[in-house]
Amino acid sequence: MNSFWNCYKGKKVLITGHTGFKGSWLAIWLQQLGAEVYGYALAPNSNLDNFITCDLTNKINHYEGDVRDAKKMQAYFKSVQPDIAFHLAAQPLVLLSYQDPVGTFETNLMGTVNFFEAVKNTPSIKVAINVTSDKCYDNKEWVWGYRENDSMGGKDPYSASKGCSELITSSYLNSFFKDENTCLVASGRAGNVIGGGDWAQDRILPDYFRSVKANQKLMIRNPHATRPWQHVLEPLSGYLNLAAALWIKGRSFTGGWNFGPEDTSNYSVKELIEKILLIDSNGGYTTPELTEKPHEAALLKLDISKAVNQLNWRPVLSFDETVEFTVAGYKDDMNGGNMFSKRTEQITDYTNKAVSRGVAWATGYENK
Ligand SMILES: NC(=O)c1ccc[n+]([C@@H]2O[C@H](COP(=O)([O-])OP(=O)(O)OC[C@H]3O[C@@H](n4cnc5c(N)ncnc54)[C@H](O)[C@@H]3O)[C@@H](O)[C@H]2O)c1
Repeated sequence: MNSFWNCYKGKKVLITGHTGFKGSWLAIWLQQLGAEVYGYALAPNSNLDNFITCDLTNKINHYEGDVRDAKKMQAYFKSVQPDIAFHLAAQPLVLLSYQDPVGTFETNLMGTVNFFEAVKNTPSIKVAINVTSDKCYDNKEWVWGYRENDSMGGKDPYSASKGCSELITSSYLNSFFKDENTCLVASGRAGNVIGGGDWAQDRILPDYFRSVKANQKLMIRNPHATRPWQHVLEPLSGYLNLAAALWIKGRSFTGGWNFGPEDTSNYSVKELIEKILLIDSNGGYTTPELTEKPHEAALLKLDISKAVNQLNWRPVLSFDETVEFTVAGYKDDMNGGNMFSKRTEQITDYTNKAVSRGVAWATGYENK
């Protein structure tokens, strides 16, 4: 397959957070694209993690380290001498950020600073992408999608940490990476992603499939909260598209980029679970009345016009297909077998859909 203009073939690509949900899928995809993949992160949380079930310890170059340890991180970057770096290591959970705000800020702020310091001191890196979140925006709970030039914000510690991570990215870009021949820096902002291999606590689908396994009904905290649900491969295709565009076309692609679903694809938690139940009726849910609960954004949309118009990127899957891919991924998790090849089959399936729908990174059509 020559997706992404064959940009990754033979390149050394370093991922922070490769033991996590998105990072492990990214590592598998990059491996499939012919890259030499290196990862820096904490050890995986459990034996259910995608990283473990896909046996990535033996498939990529795996290194355990903390992003708060600037020295260790920098030494690793220097020893690898990568061409491209993706920063995904983070404390990614809103609820945990209420319990551990200090740890969340340390990891998500100083981790980002340490990432860019390591990039600055490793001149082999030509392109660096920081993965943040749709929650980086000052959420006004309005119906319109946020654009890349809207202001950063965040009420809860996690969202604020992602807003800060964006400001750090922009500060490094403007202070250290703006001249010719310096690293090309950008950030990717995406919303909640779903797919097989995610077993994190306090996320709706891991919670749901845990309840299916336990033969119980899931209590949904916020049934009416809408999210721009996407299969994990959708934003990953955006990050890969973005890094390839920077590599091939250069500086005009630096800065922040939204990668979300089409405007019509925002669904509530309840609608998502009901769609899953149509495919696999094994589970169920209840919606208890909570008297007091921490603030979580109820309405959050991304405007993806910039990525569509300038990168020629767009989401591939309909909402129904997103749910089908996700249920299939969790069924793979539950049935076991060669998970690495099951994941690569799903990536191939996704790529073939992208080709048939004329998406530029899959067909080889030029970036604008
Ligand atoms: N999953 C989502 O729905 C979602 C939505 C928006 C943004 N994001 C962002 O995408 C990125 C990846 O998220 P994910 O869902 O894969 O999370 P995850 O929890 O599955 O993985 C997090 C990764 O970061 C690593 N990590 C955490 N703290 C670390 C530390 N101190 N030092 C080194 N490594 C550390 C973990 O080891 C793991 O590899 C994060 O930046 C997250 O904020 C995720």
